[in-house]
Amino acid sequence: MADRRAFVAGFPIAHSRSPMIHNHWLKALNLPGSYERVEVTPDAFADFIAQLRAGVFVGGNVTIPHKEAAFQLVDRRDEAAEAIGAVNTLWMEGETLWGGNTDAYGYAANMDARVSGWDQCETAVVLGAGGAARAIIHALQIRKVPSIRIVNRTLARAQSLADHFGNGVSAHGEDETNDLLGDAGLVVNTTSLGMKGTPGPDLDLDHLPQTAVVSDIVYVPLQTPLLREAAQRGLRGVDGLGMLLHQAVPGFERWFDMRPIVDQALYDLVAADV
Ligand code: ATR
Repeated sequence: MADRRAFVAGFPIAHSRSPMIHNHWLKALNLPGSYERVEVTPDAFADFIAQLRAGVFVGGNVTIPHKEAAFQLVDRRDEAAEAIGAVNTLWMEGETLWGGNTDAYGYAANMDARVSGWDQCETAVVLGAGGAARAIIHALQIRKVPSIRIVNRTLARAQSLADHFGNGVSAHGEDETNDLLGDAGLVVNTTSLGMKGTPGPDLDLDHLPQTAVVSDIVYVPLQTPLLREAAQRGLRGVDGLGMLLHQAVPGFERWFDMRPIVDQALYDLVAADV
């Protein structure tokens, strides 16, 4: 087997933690392949995809700002990519370039690992209506959470997501947040609020039932303002790092034909870098 090369392409790309994750697995599994960080400007992205088609790489990840361009350039897309409207994982199957999105899988797999029965709630409140929210809502729909309430600063964006995802998904302005928490079993922050020392989302967790789970997809810092407030109230909280680790699993498996595991050693390795 020739050494297989995979990549993460983005612009900028210096801060991607994906190489750390995939190279940890390549080493742990004693595989000969590589996973490289590649800086690709938007202008150069189509040429980069041509290299992938020519066999230079077996596949890879794309990140900001290429997720929507990748969605357009692939030959086929998996169900999650179609639902989310963005591609973060590429792989060749014969002559066919496939695009998938592993974020919804990563979210659900991490939640499964951290809180048993997390998806048995009747109502989830999703804070934010950007690309990350789309992945989380798709995950919640796959798990058949009956009622999903999107809260966003810009109501029109929440409404457009509610229209897109349909059944059971409603849109709300920020002024409604606390009123929506009373019967929620899960609250997920998909906004950037709380990142790197910024204040967290403006909500009062005292409105939540004591059984609710609070999840943040922000992972810098690991203990966000939202998770700190949840802990202070004795609510269960799940940080965002596990989603990052789990979303990497399906890509690695496609490129290198081995299913890697997300264990404490990997978590600690990446956590030390955030
Ligand atoms: P991503 O693809 O990472 O989800 P995005 O598409 O830029 O990023 O979405 C960012 C989300 O965080 C949006 O829901 C945004 O709200 P708006 O749609 O109103 O812009 C939300 N967000 C970012 N900064 C915010 C702030 N200061 N207050 C409230 N919401 C904020």
